[in-house]
Amino acid sequence: MLAATVVPGKPEQAGVSEVPEPAAAEGSIEVEALLAGVCGTDYEITHEGYGWVPPGHDRLVLFHESLGRVTAAPAGSGFAAGDLVVGIVRRPCGKCAPCAAGGWDFCLTGDYTERGIKQRDGYGAQRWRIEPEFAVTMDPKLGRLGVLTEPTSVVAKAWDQVDQIGRRAYADPRIALVTGAGPIGLLAAMIGVQRGLEVHVLDRVTSGRKPDLVRQLGATYHSGAVADLPVRPDVVIEATGAGQVVFDALQHTAKNAITCLTGISGGTRTLPVGADALNKELVLDNDVVFGSVNANRRHYELAAQALARADATWLERLLTRTVPLASWPDALQKADDDVKVVVDLQAVS
Ligand code: BGC
Repeated sequence: MLAATVVPGKPEQAGVSEVPEPAAAEGSIEVEALLAGVCGTDYEITHEGYGWVPPGHDRLVLFHESLGRVTAAPAGSGFAAGDLVVGIVRRPCGKCAPCAAGGWDFCLTGDYTERGIKQRDGYGAQRWRIEPEFAVTMDPKLGRLGVLTEPTSVVAKAWDQVDQIGRRAYADPRIALVTGAGPIGLLAAMIGVQRGLEVHVLDRVTSGRKPDLVRQLGATYHSGAVADLPVRPDVVIEATGAGQVVFDALQHTAKNAITCLTGISGGTRTLPVGADALNKELVLDNDVVFGSVNANRRHYELAAQALARADATWLERLLTRTVPLASWPDALQKADDDVKVVVDLQAVS
């Protein structure tokens, strides 16, 4: 079968390879792949050398955002041929208490593995296998929109953590700010709107698909500086990973605000920060700022529910481009108005 393969940090070697059929050890459920979603991490793996090839292999099968159809599953597994499924990214380290309790997103050792990222082949092959405990069934009516489950799981976790932190005191959040209108930001905004919050989204672009998508959600779009925003948010979901935006946002929150950082900064830029003033504000306002990465099974289930509740027409507009497996590296070349690019894993010519 064919697969999208990479050698991390060697973009000239990114391509389509003939690889063996998935091994039985990868799981008892057999899946025909439909789509893979492309994200910044895939770019970093291919071009910047993030990512780890599985031990003993010379390349990594890419992609961690999956969607497939079950072709065979053992009786009693909870899955049946025809089911639409998504695979969970991370596998527990087998050594720490959070992983043992199903909280691999809070792994303590760093020895977890991730499909398509860290020491495990990903979902970018024509067929894959998966363990029932790492597969999530999709509402069939979602169809190809199920490919949005993994990025949605990341923001479902972010919102879940905001809730848990909010329980420290009386909390009645009303205004949310999402910084960044890429897939993570837009999906975070979608969940904010589903929760009945007044949602504001800030991004650099001034026109095109992103502002439209924000308005169609019933949220308010802003471009420009955080400091100029007309509101002070109770909750911030930061999805740019840009240091300046992060620090500006921290200084523009309401009292008792909770800020979740989800963006993995690519750069190494330094910037002058008014550290004393920032510290004073965080303390006097009871502010919380926390980072969030990855997702566990419960977050995938929350994500599947959020997607099933969402307006399918709006979700469809997030899928801006479909690239055939045969030329998948084109999917990494981001066009200006792209939101989520997907790879059709059955399109081999
Ligand atoms: C994925 C996460 C993963 C992280 C770090 C992100 O793109 O969505 O599941 O944990 O990269 O490898």
